[in-house]
Amino acid sequence: MASERIIDQLNVQLNRELYSGYLYLSMCAYFNEKGLPGFANWMRVQAQEELTHAMKFFDYITKSGGRVKLATIQVPPLEWQSVEEVFRETLAHEQKVTSYINQLVDLAIQEKDHATNNFLQWFVSEQVEEEENARNILDRLRLVGEDKGSLFMLDRELAQRVFVSPAQER
Ligand code: FEO
Repeated sequence: MASERIIDQLNVQLNRELYSGYLYLSMCAYFNEKGLPGFANWMRVQAQEELTHAMKFFDYITKSGGRVKLATIQVPPLEWQSVEEVFRETLAHEQKVTSYINQLVDLAIQEKDHATNNFLQWFVSEQVEEEENARNILDRLRLVGEDKGSLFMLDRELAQRVFVSPAQER
């Protein structure tokens, strides 16, 4: 059974994952409005992934004898200055999430809670991918610059992204 302190922090992270979903859904709506359906699709899939992350925390808290406590989800931004700014924010957000996951791992190690540490390792790997995905798109957007044709091509490519649930990945 996880300690109360760990359960509290897992609940905080559950809320952060839900906020991540909110943030990416807001970005999805922004791209829909801008006439970039591929970028919107990419963000929609990203939001779906965040919900599965949240549910992993939900299930783990329950399994380890804790009580899930849902809290208010922060309202995400509505507008961005450019496509590039959206991905700068996405990368910065994922880097922040990585640091929160690392803090949780530190706490689990400090409390000698091997089960929670083991649970969190999935997220440690996932965060490497999350940051890499955002960084790749940001790098490509910097190459594209003001070239509308290249942006359109990238939009078509991002339209191909499909949601794969973690259960199907294994
Ligand atoms: Fe749940 Fe994007 O990290």
